[in-house]
Amino acid sequence: MSSITTRTLLEMKEKGERIVALTCYDALFARLLDASGVDILLVGDSLNQVLAGAPSTLSATLDQMIYHTNMVRRGTEHAMVVCDMPFLSYQISPEDALRNCGRAMKETGCNAVKIEGGQPMAATVRRLVDVGIPVMGHLGLTPQSVHALGGYRVQGREDAEAGRLKADATALQDAGAFAVVLELVPAPLASQITKSLSIPTIGIGAGPACDGQVLVLHDMLGLNDQFSAKFVKKYAALAEDVREAARVFAAEVREGRYPGPEHSFGK
Ligand code: KIV
Repeated sequence: MSSITTRTLLEMKEKGERIVALTCYDALFARLLDASGVDILLVGDSLNQVLAGAPSTLSATLDQMIYHTNMVRRGTEHAMVVCDMPFLSYQISPEDALRNCGRAMKETGCNAVKIEGGQPMAATVRRLVDVGIPVMGHLGLTPQSVHALGGYRVQGREDAEAGRLKADATALQDAGAFAVVLELVPAPLASQITKSLSIPTIGIGAGPACDGQVLVLHDMLGLNDQFSAKFVKKYAALAEDVREAARVFAAEVREGRYPGPEHSFGK
């Protein structure tokens, strides 16, 4: 059982304490991030792009999400672990969503699930919450709808879209969601939504007023250097460190400098 719960996050919002979230896909990084005091480890379906090299999140499967969430769970003591539900694992019907989200909870020991979408998903959120499954919502640029949205674009720039996003956020809160991710939303709109809700908003490309921030770990570590976006701040440059370490290893092996006596066993 993690020490960060849905109640902790609500209290953090009430006290004005910022919530820190990162994506995480395995036990090794989970241990490192948990030790750093990150509040939420989101096993995002972005792993389908970041780790598996797919062009979008759409082909991620429930089995894959369960596999990775289990790894993250094993490396985590303190943080809340959230399993991102993949495309078509919750959109078909509330009953289907209950079956699949229930499977994720039972088979991984995660603390919550995340699903994308606003008002059309409210009945599903209610069904899940009613049986005790905590649900994090996700609005704005919802990557599973990338084809319908016409690409990875900022959402809510026009008045009608902004109004719909506000109504979506309220619908998720009313249905019992404990938090909402706001992705690629103009900062002033994210601020209005954050002020209007009693549950926390977690922003990604949504400006500084959200109650918390999430980034894709491999982006902020500079490990995924094929991706860059205005909202991603790189806190390290690990891709270059990895390339350099591999270059030095290759040179030492080729020149017979590795392994040395200190890396070799005698009798
Ligand atoms: O899949 C993911 O990593 C996400 C975050 C970007 C919020 O949904």
